[in-house]
Amino acid sequence: MKVLTNNISRRNFLKTSAAAAAALGLPEWFIKEGHAHGSVAEKLSSLDKPGIALIGCGGQGRSVCNWARNYGHVLAMCDVDEDRLNQAADQFKAPDKYKDFREVLERDDINVIINATPDHWHTLINIGAMKSGKDVYSEKPLTLTVDEGKRVVDVSRKSKRILQTGSQQRSDQRFQLACELVRNGRIGKLEYIVAGLPTGPREGPFSKQPVPEGLDWDYYLGQTPVTDYNGHNCHWNFRWWYRFAGGQMTDWGAHHNDIAQWALGMDRSGPVHVDGRSLIDMIPGGYTATAKFRVEFTYKNGVKLITTDEAPNGVRFNGSDGWIFVSRSKLTASKDSLLKEPLPDDAVRLERSNSHLGNFFDCVQSRKQPVCDAEIGHRSASVCHLGVISVRLRRSLKWNPDKEEFADDDEANTWLSRPMRAPYDYDMI
Ligand SMILES: NC(=O)c1ccc[n+]([C@@H]2O[C@H](COP(=O)([O-])OP(=O)(O)OC[C@H]3O[C@@H](n4cnc5c(N)ncnc54)[C@H](O)[C@@H]3O)[C@@H](O)[C@H]2O)c1
Repeated sequence: MKVLTNNISRRNFLKTSAAAAAALGLPEWFIKEGHAHGSVAEKLSSLDKPGIALIGCGGQGRSVCNWARNYGHVLAMCDVDEDRLNQAADQFKAPDKYKDFREVLERDDINVIINATPDHWHTLINIGAMKSGKDVYSEKPLTLTVDEGKRVVDVSRKSKRILQTGSQQRSDQRFQLACELVRNGRIGKLEYIVAGLPTGPREGPFSKQPVPEGLDWDYYLGQTPVTDYNGHNCHWNFRWWYRFAGGQMTDWGAHHNDIAQWALGMDRSGPVHVDGRSLIDMIPGGYTATAKFRVEFTYKNGVKLITTDEAPNGVRFNGSDGWIFVSRSKLTASKDSLLKEPLPDDAVRLERSNSHLGNFFDCVQSRKQPVCDAEIGHRSASVCHLGVISVRLRRSLKWNPDKEEFADDDEANTWLSRPMRAPYDYDMI
């Protein structure tokens, strides 16, 4: 995606903005208002561009890395599966190859890490990278547990490193506009929000299969307990297992719950109550993360966020004066005027970015925090983790977002962290 540049002429900008508005279905006033800026990092001379390493060479890692080539020099690839490592090395013109991410972190010529490993590996790599002085673009959901998130935030603050969470809807103008309108009372009093996520797969049982040649299965399992490889608990499908992730609740939830919290002005906090239910029994010996669910989060202002697979994919904000629905393909409202009318000059403005990766690389230069920093990424992931915990415990829970613990509930509090299997624990970094 080409971004608008700083030196674009006013006339060209107005033409470009009208076209962009039409293409995205956005009101022209919004495009004209705040998007005349573009990435500075993209314009740096080759000598000034940072060195980049990709850790986790699956579909998402390679797609992000391909885009990151505009901003820096891709020097190294790292994966625990040799096949994937070799494919990525070919794609990125044979940069250096590694299995152990710690060897990548030792290199002085690498300034930026793209972390696109499965969720259970995010935290150790992110913390190790920041402690080694690297800035990180880390895929969402930022963490596997709430406890991991607290540690990531702490290290990012102390190390003064830049960490952008890969929740790219933050840099999508439709989502920005929807959140900004809701924050400014455009739909009256916000009453409830519905985040519609896809239904997960319900498949199994699966049986043991030989580990593919070149895949280091023990390293892949990392912090999680040892289990057999079954052909459905590795690449891509890791997300349907609670041992590695949280199903759709964390996979898509990390995107749409993030948007809900942004519109609520709660993206550095969280709900005070969560009530989650699985709507289906999973097949014994198959995927463990529930495929169908309904979770109701309540915030301290009384607004409810309902996250479910039984609603259209997107986020719908419902208020006393109308509704706004936003997804990756459309932005609609109960009346056109809700979107078309410009906000007044004194309206609350949200930080705007029109390129998630561009915003990250700009922050690598400016040392300002990006639009989805470690704390926001952690809090958005936490909402999803709370939902999963309530679903798995089959009961409602009271949450204290300041202390980041459940109120008077020792059992639920034990779910905020997980034992890590040595040597894949904090001692390794
Ligand atoms: N932002 C988005 O829209 C978006 C889209 C898809 C995926 N993602 C996220 O990206 C991450 C990866 O997803 P994917 O679909 O590409 O998964 P994937 O399974 O295709 O790729 C993950 C890769 O990481 C490798 N890996 C595992 N442990 C490793 C380790 N310790 N060191 C190095 N490599 C390791 C695996 O071998 C695999 O090649 C997930 O967290 C997912 O949620 C984000």
